[in-house]
Amino acid sequence: MEGNILINGREIKLQFAPDDSLLDTLRNHGFSELKFGCKEGECGACIILLDGKPVNSCQIFTASILNRKITTVKGVGDLHEPHLIQKAFVESGAIQCGYCTPGMVLSAYSLLLENPSPTEAEIKKALDGNLCRCTGYVKIIEGVQLAASWLRSD
Ligand code: FES
Ligand code: FES
Repeated sequence: MEGNILINGREIKLQFAPDDSLLDTLRNHGFSELKFGCKEGECGACIILLDGKPVNSCQIFTASILNRKITTVKGVGDLHEPHLIQKAFVESGAIQCGYCTPGMVLSAYSLLLENPSPTEAEIKKALDGNLCRCTGYVKIIEGVQLAASWLRSD
């Protein structure tokens, strides 16, 4: 099968099997910033923004989202032009192995767009679908709080 999507502001043509997940299709097309974790919708490593909302790409058939707008973490910021959330994660020591980081950053990005001053409880709720094996979450929550304060004064 073939179809187009708008990803990180660019329209691209995808080739995929009828039962391919969006995670498989995007990784097959070089979007390695989506991480392959549980493939069961439990870990959040594969999160993308679909029309601005965080979703687990392993749980979506590619065929069902053609012509929709997708953002990966590289659409938020990259090594050359990092987003303030990414800078805050580095500053806070919120990254160890980094496997969960793309999904964490996208969940935080979506939260802070809707709620620029989240409480700790609201941050925990927004990151509820993102698992991290390394950090114990404290530094990640501090990273989101730091990003929120930077974004408010930006
Ligand atoms: S790989 Fe998609 S939620 Fe874990
Ligand atoms: S930093 Fe390793 S899984 Fe989160």
